[in-house]
Amino acid sequence: MAIVFEGLSDKYQSLLNTAREAMTRAYVPYSNFQVGAALLDSDGRIHYGCNVENAAYGPTNCAERTALHRAIADGRRPGEFEAIAVMGDTEGPIAPCGVCRQVLVELCSPEMPVVMGNLQGSWVIRTVSELLPGAFTPASLDSKPNT
Ligand code: THU
Repeated sequence: MAIVFEGLSDKYQSLLNTAREAMTRAYVPYSNFQVGAALLDSDGRIHYGCNVENAAYGPTNCAERTALHRAIADGRRPGEFEAIAVMGDTEGPIAPCGVCRQVLVELCSPEMPVVMGNLQGSWVIRTVSELLPGAFTPASLDSKPNT
């Protein structure tokens, strides 16, 4: 049964429900905390992501990065994304971790919406730049004043 996200557009409700489906694919033997992501590209294709954990903990990959990296490997280029939805079993809408925010800044436009939800139907939308203000970006590398 689809989760109803009251007051949200059909398009983003559907994207959140796809992220919900991606959650079930998570490999989470250590945290038992499933996260799902659905990344909509500019051709209307959806790239699934789930978290994939590791016995050494550090190599764990979050759902958001799985979706983004997978889309790049499938031939999408940075900026060719319309929106990403993220779902988790959290009290309020799930919040992407700091590392994922940095990767979103690298691969998505600053205005791209990040649609965050939970299993109870709570949701919130923020742009990539709202999630990581003042980010270190590719442009920062070209801005050395003393060269
Ligand atoms: N996790 C995600 O996949 N995305 C988030 O936005 C937050 C955290 C994962 C990492 C780890 O597998 C588990 O959730 C617990 O931190």
